[in-house]
Amino acid sequence: MGDYEEIFRASVADRERFWLEAAAALDWHRAPSKALDDARPPFYRWFPDGELNVCHNALDRHCEAGHGSRAALVYDSPVTGVKTTYTYERLRDEVAVFAGVLRDSGVSAGDRVVIYMPMVPEAAVAMLACARLGAVHSVVFGGFAAKELAVRIDDAEPTVVVSASCGIEGSRVIEYKPLLDQAIGLAAHKPARQVILQRPQAEAEMGATDVDWAAACAGASPAAPVNVRSTDPLYILYTSGTTGKPKGVVRDSGGYATALAWSMANVYDVGPGQTLFTASDVGWVVGHSYIVYAPLLAGATTVLYEGKPVGTPDAGQFWRVASEYGVRSMFTAPTAFRALKKEDPDGELARRYDLSSLKYLFLAGERLDPETYRWASELLGIPVIDHWWQTETGWPIVANPAGIELLRVKPGSPTRPLPGWNVQVLDGDGKQVPPGTNGAIVARLPMPPGALPTLWNDDERFVESYMSAFDGYYLTGDGGYLDEDGYLFVMGRTDDVINVAGHRLSTGGMEEALAGHPDVAECAVIGVADEMKGQVPRGFVVLKSGVDAAAEGYEERLRGELVQLVRDQVGAVASLKDVAVVAALPKTRSGKILRKNMRSIADGTDEPVPSTIDDPDVLEALRPALRKQ
Ligand code: COA
Ligand code: AMP
Repeated sequence: MGDYEEIFRASVADRERFWLEAAAALDWHRAPSKALDDARPPFYRWFPDGELNVCHNALDRHCEAGHGSRAALVYDSPVTGVKTTYTYERLRDEVAVFAGVLRDSGVSAGDRVVIYMPMVPEAAVAMLACARLGAVHSVVFGGFAAKELAVRIDDAEPTVVVSASCGIEGSRVIEYKPLLDQAIGLAAHKPARQVILQRPQAEAEMGATDVDWAAACAGASPAAPVNVRSTDPLYILYTSGTTGKPKGVVRDSGGYATALAWSMANVYDVGPGQTLFTASDVGWVVGHSYIVYAPLLAGATTVLYEGKPVGTPDAGQFWRVASEYGVRSMFTAPTAFRALKKEDPDGELARRYDLSSLKYLFLAGERLDPETYRWASELLGIPVIDHWWQTETGWPIVANPAGIELLRVKPGSPTRPLPGWNVQVLDGDGKQVPPGTNGAIVARLPMPPGALPTLWNDDERFVESYMSAFDGYYLTGDGGYLDEDGYLFVMGRTDDVINVAGHRLSTGGMEEALAGHPDVAECAVIGVADEMKGQVPRGFVVLKSGVDAAAEGYEERLRGELVQLVRDQVGAVASLKDVAVVAALPKTRSGKILRKNMRSIADGTDEPVPSTIDDPDVLEALRPALRKQ
């Protein structure tokens, strides 16, 4: 245990020393002599002369230290009935062989590999195998549709795609291979090869460039770790921006590994031989950081859980997993707890299990509402830690640092910034606002190690999206306030990004799908508050003139087609269920749709209408449709 204030001050007083000391937790092929390269703002680089291999640090290093028989990864899959424990030695060996498969498929350092897989251990194996070769993985969440996958394939230009025949969603088997085939058909870039993990629930039909995972591994020899520069990319993770085109967040190697190792000890309070259970998906940043890399870098045990919080088969599964594997810290999204509360309001299922090992519950991905915080705290009787971060940052920005000391909690606030983060709240002119006043949440540059150095192949968009609103600051896209004690309150996104059940989605992408319908002249999608999912999207469409909207059954049929379009083009995970046909959309005189005002009416927090509104009557006419629950 330490002193948060003191550690935070040390990180400010001597940044170089603080992060070089943190980096010493890793095994470097060439130890860095310098922490930060700040020669070219806003492009900062961490540990510029360091060299390492992240996979070696996650696996081999622990085996070499004599911990090869320790559990590295526990796969627990209530949807298939499979439970497997991978020791560090077994995981290292399987990763080395799969790295051999990738190498034999033409993948070398710097090449990209797209991974489109469900929550199976092979997804982690594929990620680590890329890291072993110095190749750059890009994991695409399984809930995204073929078109989204195609866009990512075209941007990352992978040498190989790794996928599986199917995923299991509750009781449904979702075939992945047809989606992959469709995506490759749509993409201009064609990978040389697809490696497919055949699962017994639905075997995939193989094509000329498809290779069977098991057969390929049987014929491959293991590959050794390839050392890379600290600043070389470990992965690209696409995330939703304001437009339909996703942003390829780049993650470096040494800075990220350093930040993760630091956070395991100081935030999550999980060390070697202890267990972290992160119930998320490898397709999201939470999965990258706290299912795969961080627990392994720390020599801890990670649980990879293939199932849902409820319905697979019941709301007791999280508690079963926690007790079965002696979980110390658990991490999920608040929405999962809202689902648990709905199914098991009195926590009867939780009481059936011995949860004495569980010390902390970490929640992130969306705002933690006070009621969910209260319910989880009372149910578990342990610290419930709200923490705030983003795909871009790779690890928490603001969190109660359980491994240092537990700060006093103010419900609604993830508490205070972690070392390395200089969080401020600015008004529209870039001036700091007084405590308690809402504004744009920003981080003063440079950000600490682990945060994105740029966007894949797009320095310009990196600067434009994050660095140009306020000179010298990173724009988080979230709004909120700091109170007089330095506690941050995050109130929500200030852009068109929404958070549906902890999944980050772009309303722009959904609008593109709706606009593709032949009857739609224009449309808007906004995120509205939802009791279970935090937010859900709602669509509003204006029809082209000449469309006979009065025809019998027309609107119902149209709604069905529009919902299906979004499922097909964005993915089921978008959860767009509600589309209204309206006469017109409210706009400014320059033609910008007033989505913010629409959102605020739907959420009952009427924002002032800008004086530039073209026709106030249009907004008034829309009010009843927006207010509808
Ligand atoms: N592959 C294919 N489809 C997927 C998918 C995947 N990996 N993940 C989700 N989907 C589908 C679901 O089957 C569902 O389809 P449906 O509309 O046909 O039923 C749709 O996408 C929406 O999924 P989801 O938002 O997960 O809703 P749900 O009703 O199935 O489950 C919760 C609700 C709360 C149980 C679930 O959202 C959950 O566990 N949330 C935790 C959030 C989380 O882990 N977030 C990660 C960031 S920390
Ligand atoms: P993602 O990039 O998918 O991790 O989503 C990041 C976004 O989720 C942030 O910009 C916030 O809008 C939201 N978010 C994440 N954690 C929290 C939190 N603890 N409180 C409020 N919002 C959060």
